[in-house]
Amino acid sequence: MSATARKSAPLPDDIRDMKGGTPIVSLTAYTTPMAEMMDAHCDFVLVGDSLGMVLHGLPSTLGVTMDMMIMHGRAVGRGVKSAMMVVDMPFGSYEESPAQAFRNAARIMAETGAAAVKLEGGVHMAETIAFLVARGVPVMAHIGLTPQSINTLGGYKVQGRGDAGAALMADARAVAEAGAFSVVLEKVPATLADEITAAIPIPTIGIGASAGCDGQILVVDDMLGLFTRFKAKFVKRYAELASDGEAAIAAYAADVRARSFPAAEHVFGDADPKSNA
Ligand code: KIV
Repeated sequence: MSATARKSAPLPDDIRDMKGGTPIVSLTAYTTPMAEMMDAHCDFVLVGDSLGMVLHGLPSTLGVTMDMMIMHGRAVGRGVKSAMMVVDMPFGSYEESPAQAFRNAARIMAETGAAAVKLEGGVHMAETIAFLVARGVPVMAHIGLTPQSINTLGGYKVQGRGDAGAALMADARAVAEAGAFSVVLEKVPATLADEITAAIPIPTIGIGASAGCDGQILVVDDMLGLFTRFKAKFVKRYAELASDGEAAIAAYAADVRARSFPAAEHVFGDADPKSNA
């Protein structure tokens, strides 16, 4: 069912059932107005920890905190009705132990209303994923380029090329077997993404992966041209809001300096003291 035809938000099981069907549509969201803008068009929205870079100007996602994720998760939750909301677990909130992961995942779900959490990691996070799922926390996994590990991955490189493909396939199988309801594949060769999509029973959500994935996700600030510090190859810009916005601000500044703003229609007369119009 398309997001526009749906009356209420899908659950993680509904997203899992979309495997192999019409591609799953998703974007990141961080604020209520953005969430409202995409609600009718997306199957799920992700409150991604990319918010650290695109909203808060951090150099990576490593400085993002639980409090930041919860604040933005609550804002997005107020803007979605027909799309499911997933919230990222930030760096340091789940890697230590399954118990730590459960404590923080439960807090995210209780305080934001998220239907699921996303965490980064494959084989080495499988035990944690199984622990969370067994305790009522639906998990979206994230493998391939996992931005929280850039310091051990050696930067934002394509993952799974050549012999490394087998390890990525093992990651995908491990998170599916552990009970994840879907898995994000980031920055992996298209042929490997297609092989993983064919091999596992849960939907693959591609970002820099392949049109053959079961769904796609992009960072909304990237696709709207709001974040311009750099542009990854996998980003398609559907708008240029940063340059359009700057042009609008320059026009406003010129109007103010020329005293052509505010104009007559923007100011109040004293004819009717009861009117606020
Ligand atoms: O944080 C994020 O925005 C993400 C997407 C890139 C998948 O994890």
